This record gives sequence, structure tokens and C-alpha cells, in this order.
Amino acid sequence: MSTESTLRAVTTYRLSEMKQRGEKIAMLTSYDYSMARILDAAGIDVILVGDSAANVMAGFETTVPITLDNMIYHGRSVARAVKRALVVVDLPFGTYQGNSKEALASAVRIMKETEADAVKLEGGEEVMESVQRILSAGIPIMGHLGLTPQSIHKYGTYSVRAKEEAEAEKLVRDAYLLEEAGCFALVLEKIPAVLGARVASELHIPVIGIGAGNGVDGQVLVAHDMLGITNEFSPRFLRRYADLHSVMTEAFSHYVSDVKGGDFPSDKEQY
Ligand code: KIV
Repeated sequence: MSTESTLRAVTTYRLSEMKQRGEKIAMLTSYDYSMARILDAAGIDVILVGDSAANVMAGFETTVPITLDNMIYHGRSVARAVKRALVVVDLPFGTYQGNSKEALASAVRIMKETEADAVKLEGGEEVMESVQRILSAGIPIMGHLGLTPQSIHKYGTYSVRAKEEAEAEKLVRDAYLLEEAGCFALVLEKIPAVLGARVASELHIPVIGIGAGNGVDGQVLVAHDMLGITNEFSPRFLRRYADLHSVMTEAFSHYVSDVKGGDFPSDKEQY
């Protein structure tokens, strides 16, 4: 019998230890093998196979159209690449709301077919039955509150959430419900920094923010946004670490002119 562990180095347990000792958690998205390898080697703690793949990979305006089969394809590509980071795959819209048995079946498919470590889903009280059923099967869940893009048609805007007291109090209640149910972590998207800090200080599980300020336990961004591959999306919370849109455009144009001018391939680039 082999004693070698098949678990990745970052586990849900390690994340909880990181919170306890005040070590911030770094999380980014990936949808494919090549990007996931680079992220993992760079020391990222958590890789999210986000349903933002609907926007970034497929060009849809919202995350609503992406399917479970699509997410499994992306999840499997990422999980195959990753040795260290925890891999979390989003349950897409329509696969867990309303019917907890279907929710469990969706989560089981993700775990078996992708070999990821956990799933993420959006919402609190409304999806609690699904959360409990998935957790009862031993599948770790990362919650997601605040701006929940799968509900975009309900709200009609991507503006900052929970600015009013009633919405903020519901968010705090939902955060407690998710923690009490047994979720291992929580994403808070686009909410006031004070609220993000309050939730992170009251909860025991790690709280990872995207536009939720600096008082939370970690940060997540969409990799294509922080790399500047997408350049039409500039919310205040986004820090761009590169301008790959320009770098790639220049490289592609250079290639086009080399091919058209007969410059590529050179003598050294042929057999
Ligand atoms: O799908 C996604 O990329 C996400 C992040 C924005 C947290 O859910």
C-alpha cells in the first residue's frame, strides 16, 4: 500500500489554520490547465474554477448560461494541473437552487468528474436545504454572499450590495447560517469594507473578499482581469498587475506582419 497522500498541500483544514494565525489567503480564478499550472507554481493558496468562465471564456454577458458540463470540463482541466493549491469549482446557476437532491447530484458530479477539492455556491437561507444535503455527503462548500452574479436578473445591476442596514443584517445572518451548517469558507463580493471586516471578525471560518475591503481573511480576483487580458472591466476593487491585452495585441500584430512579410519562418525555424 502506498503511503503517499493524494491530498493537495492546501486543504480546508490548512485554510482554517491560516485564519487562526492571521495569514492572509490568496485566491485567483483559472479555467484551464496552462494557467492553473502557472498559478500553482506561483504559490496561490486557492484556485477557483469560477462560473465567470461564462464571461471570460465564452463571452456571455452574465454567468447564467454556463452549464454543469461546461464547469466540469474547466474543473477537470484545472485539477489535473494543480499539485498544491485547493481547487474549488462553482456550481452553476440552476444546478442547486430549489431541489436539494439535484444539488447533491450536481456536487457529486463535480467532485467525481473533476477531482477538485470543493464546490462553491451563491446564497444563504434560500439555498440552505441544498447546502445541508451537499455537506451531509462530505463535500466541502465555500459560500458566496453580497453581489451574487447568478441573481443578476433579480437585481438588474452589479452595484455595491448591502449598503442599507436591512440588507447588511440579512447578509450577516446568512453568513452565520452558512458557518453553522458547516461551510469551510465564505466569499463576500462587492460590499462595504466595514461590513466585510465585521463578518470576518465574527465568523470562525475564513472570509475571502472581492471588493469587500482589506479587513477580511483573504482576497480573490478573476485572473484575466488582474492580468489585464480583459480591459473593458474596471471596477474600483480591481488592481491590474499587468497589461497583457497590450502585450498580446503587440505580439499577435508582430506575428501577422512577420508572416505576411515572409519573415517567419526563418532558415533556422525550418527543417
Ligand atoms: O465566478 C467567479 O469568478 C467568482 C469570483 C468572482 C469570486 O465567483
